[in-house]
This record gives sequence, C-alpha cells and structure tokens, in this order.
Amino acid sequence: MEDKIRVLLTEEEVNARISEIAARINEDYEGKSVHLICILKGGVFFTCELAKRLTVPVTLDFMSVSSYGSGTVSSGVVKIVKDLDEPLEGKEVLIVEDIIDSGRTLAYLIQVLMQRNPASIRLCTLLDKPERRVKKQVTVDYTCFTIPDEFVVGYGLDYDQRYRNLPYIGVIEQ
Ligand code: IMP
Ligand code: MG
Repeated sequence: MEDKIRVLLTEEEVNARISEIAARINEDYEGKSVHLICILKGGVFFTCELAKRLTVPVTLDFMSVSSYGSGTVSSGVVKIVKDLDEPLEGKEVLIVEDIIDSGRTLAYLIQVLMQRNPASIRLCTLLDKPERRVKKQVTVDYTCFTIPDEFVVGYGLDYDQRYRNLPYIGVIEQ
C-alpha cells in the first residue's frame, strides 16, 4: 500500500534555501578550497545540490556510517560501513549530512575525523531536529531548516530505504 505523504518543504523552498547556504559558504571559504564529505546515503541529494552552487574550489569524498536499523528508532550504535578514499591532512573539511537528530552519528564522526589532522572541520546539514539532541556538544555551522520532532522522508531521507528520491521533504501520515 502507498503511504500518504504530507509536504513539509517543497522542492522550490529547499532549493532556494540551499542557494542561500551555498552563498554563505562561498563567503566563509573565500580564498580556500573546501573538501566536502558526503554522508551516505541520505546526504547525497543535498551534497549534489549544494556542490553545484559553490564557487570556491571543491573536492568531494564519501563516507557511509550506520546508526539506525530499518525502523525509526536510533540504536545508538555507530559503525563505519565505508571509509573515505582520501586523507584529510591539512584540508578544510565540511561534513554534509541530511539530518541531525540525536547527534550520535556526528559526535562520533567528528571525533574520528579530527584524528586525521584536517585544517578545520565544519558541519552542514539540510535538516536539524534540535529537540531530539542527546549529544549536546554537536554544533552545526550551516543549517538549512530546523524542523519539529517528526519523521521526515525525501531529498535523500528514507523510511526503510524508500522515498529518498522524492524531490521535496514530507512526513508520512499515519
Ligand atoms: P542521529 O545519529 O540520531 O543524529 O541520526 C542521524 C541519522 O538518522 C540521519 O543521518 C538519518 O539517516 C537518520 N534519521 C534521523 N531522523 C530521521 C528522519 O526524520 N527521517 C529519516 N531519517 C532520519
Ligand atoms: Mg543518514
């Protein structure tokens, strides 16, 4: 049976906001290169749209971590499923995530990536659900949208691996 999905953020709203965030990143990284780390799989749509709008020199790498099972509840366990291809030594790293929820994934990742001696690490997320934060030390440098505590899909975000390809962000109606 098809789920009914209520639109929370339209494709136009999301893309307009990504353009604003990209403009800020272009300013902040002026005269430098930025090394984007896309967190698979959810961050992939956002990373592409963001990267297309950056005018500073960009390099890209991908990492896959798992923190969730097939449902909607965090297991609290973070595992590196696919590591980066390139070293981070001396690079201006910008982690690109789909959503920050409990913050467990990012708290762990930042700690691991810091040990690889980048020049800097910043964090950019499409969505933030601050009400759900368990790891309070995770600070987000660039947030496109702060949303309430609802489970969202689309624009890379899945429910049991489905709906990542929706061009908007929606909530599955019960
Ligand atoms: P955290 O470690 O709890 O911050 O979880 C972050 C990860 O949980 C994200 O990268 C998503 O894969 C997943 N996640 C958290 N909230 C949602 C949601 O509302 N929809 C889909 N995936 C979510
Ligand atoms: Mg994810």
